[in-house]
Amino acid sequence: MDQHTEIIRRRYDRVSAIYDVLESPMELMALKKWRLEVMKELKGKVLEVGVGTGKNIEYYPDGLDITAIDFSEKMLAKAREKAGKLGKKVDLRHMDVQKLEFPDQTFDTIFTTCVFCSVPDSVKGLQEMGRVCKSGGKIIMIEHVRSEQAVLGLVMDVFNPLVVNLYGANINRRTVENVYKAGFTKVEVSNLSRDIVKKIQIYP
Ligand SMILES: C[S@@+](CC[C@H](N)C(=O)[O-])C[C@H]1O[C@@H](n2cnc3c(N)ncnc32)[C@H](O)[C@@H]1O
Repeated sequence: MDQHTEIIRRRYDRVSAIYDVLESPMELMALKKWRLEVMKELKGKVLEVGVGTGKNIEYYPDGLDITAIDFSEKMLAKAREKAGKLGKKVDLRHMDVQKLEFPDQTFDTIFTTCVFCSVPDSVKGLQEMGRVCKSGGKIIMIEHVRSEQAVLGLVMDVFNPLVVNLYGANINRRTVENVYKAGFTKVEVSNLSRDIVKKIQIYP
């Protein structure tokens, strides 16, 4: 792991103890609804990238073969605890999306919720997901991004260093642009909340 990745990984280790509490207002307002929307689209062999404390695990449909990864061992420990309590079968692995340890074309569906705000080299992480996704498969992402509205975008730029230092996440990531930079061409994007929270569907 390079030095920058290690710094961000440690920030998630640090925030793991309070992550669920910090995130609960967003969960109540909208995240739960968006998580359920993603779950409806999972098929076959599934990979969740950046599982975090396992907020999606309770919604995993039964009967699917699901692997989930995260580079923060402390976030992953919370996910393990949740999966155990819920009796959900999931193969949880410590792994960096920038360097996935899976062969090419392993998964039918890959999904992320609020992950690519913090992956240090987003383009590399997206390319890795493309590599391990089967052709004919699908990558589904729910991600918050930088607003294109002038004032709001500027506010996000100004506050970004503070949020990254505290939390490890960037509030001004241009994830849709990064998806194209990663080389994907068949992409569908829709707005879930203003132009800030997007559903991005990629057909590698
Ligand atoms: C904001 S949290 C979201 C967690 C979860 N997806 C959710 O919806 O609650 C971002 C997660 O992505 C993980 N993450 C960030 N960069 C990563 C990387 N390079 N490889 C694997 N996991 C990563 C972090 O450790 C963290 O658990």
